[in-house]
Amino acid sequence: MSKEKTGGSAKLWGGRFGEATAGSVEAFSASIHYDSRLYKYDIAGSKAHATMLKEQGILSEEDLKLIIKGLSEIEAEIERGEFEFKRELEDVHMNIEKALVDKVGPAGAKLHSARSRNDQIALDLRMYLRDQCDYFVDLLTEAQKSCVQLARKYLGKVMPGYTHVQRAQPVLVSHHMLAYYEMFGRDRERIVDCRKRINLSPLGCAALAGSGLPIHRESVAEALGFDGVTANSMDTSADRDFAIEFVNCLALTQTHLSRISEELVFWSSQEFDFVNIADKFCTGSSIMPQKKNPDIPELIRGKSGRVVGSLMSLFTLMKGLPLTYNRDMQEDKEPVFDAIDTVSASLAIMAELLENLEFNTKRMQEATETGYVTATDLADYLVMKDVPFRDAHGIVGRAVAFCIDKGCELADLELEELQQFSRVIGDDVYDVLTVEGSVNSRISTGGTGRERVEEAVAKAEKQLGMV
Ligand code: ARG
Repeated sequence: MSKEKTGGSAKLWGGRFGEATAGSVEAFSASIHYDSRLYKYDIAGSKAHATMLKEQGILSEEDLKLIIKGLSEIEAEIERGEFEFKRELEDVHMNIEKALVDKVGPAGAKLHSARSRNDQIALDLRMYLRDQCDYFVDLLTEAQKSCVQLARKYLGKVMPGYTHVQRAQPVLVSHHMLAYYEMFGRDRERIVDCRKRINLSPLGCAALAGSGLPIHRESVAEALGFDGVTANSMDTSADRDFAIEFVNCLALTQTHLSRISEELVFWSSQEFDFVNIADKFCTGSSIMPQKKNPDIPELIRGKSGRVVGSLMSLFTLMKGLPLTYNRDMQEDKEPVFDAIDTVSASLAIMAELLENLEFNTKRMQEATETGYVTATDLADYLVMKDVPFRDAHGIVGRAVAFCIDKGCELADLELEELQQFSRVIGDDVYDVLTVEGSVNSRISTGGTGRERVEEAVAKAEKQLGMV
């Protein structure tokens, strides 16, 4: 950069270099093709940093004006698609800084005082992820709303609840959908919590040890909307926990999306026939004219592999790194960006698909009428007649075996037939053997009883501001 003597390298860091960087090295080490996504944050960070340098007497008022004006112009050029990002300038930081120096001269060259790309990249990534946290909170809220809308629409409709994909006990369709409302709610809370650790300013930690110039980190943090500054400059240059934590949140969300996708795949099969996924969310087969395939849930399920993969990439990337910054850390961006793109697209399309989903309630009701799903209710009935639960379990098991032989359901047995298994069974047993009786008896907190589910739907609607 010095006017007096130019070495062999034209880089911003080229002073001590005797020759130009090899083309292969430029190609291998550049990150501009993906980190240009951070330009907005890089510019906002530079403006705040320059403002602080001026307040601290490190920059003149005139220099600051030139820097702010130059950075605003660069931002506008990027937004208009007129800015040319250059690979030989490596990354977003140096592309912008070089453009600034070209525009405003020596004032631009003063911007990097008391700063390193190490705290700069940590800043850009933290600011970007902070915005992403807010975005994901919105996306998750929309997904929750879709679940609650379905729960409201199908209130009172029953379906089999499963364990081991075997019919277990009848439940309300709404109860099932509210299970996903809960999952997405936890996802939201995790992101809100993760945001707290993201939202601390790293700027001023400089390369690793802090700065010898009289900077004021707190005022930069405040100007950029951070809750405070990070505590230890070495930890700060070395830290990517916040990115791992964020991608971990996303991986769990994608896992939830994958589970609902799996259910949609088999619910939409002819064997289940529980749901109709709107045509516009399905595709056909190139050879079999009759096919309507649930590609969207399948793709969401498939993409969970790639999101968990991104998380594993980050863990593996960081596990052996000594303090502080190591260039390996440049490899954090692509998994983070890919996880964000994948999970945001999956969440948005799932919310849309759910809004257009129809349940085949007749088929779901029929499925609860076979498979002895009220067997536990019969056992509970015996418990209320003072039969110890373990004995009741055996009694009902034998009654079920009897039904399997006879080819009928428990509710089809005559009272005398039921009484062979236990004398205490009376006429009132038929109330508990019906699907409705079974569902509505489960009024324990968090249970599928209609009363409980109505309360849960109303509570969710209120929480989401839907009423
Ligand atoms: N492009 C770099 C990254 O993403 C920015 C920090 C570079 N720092 C350095 N000392 N080379 O990590």
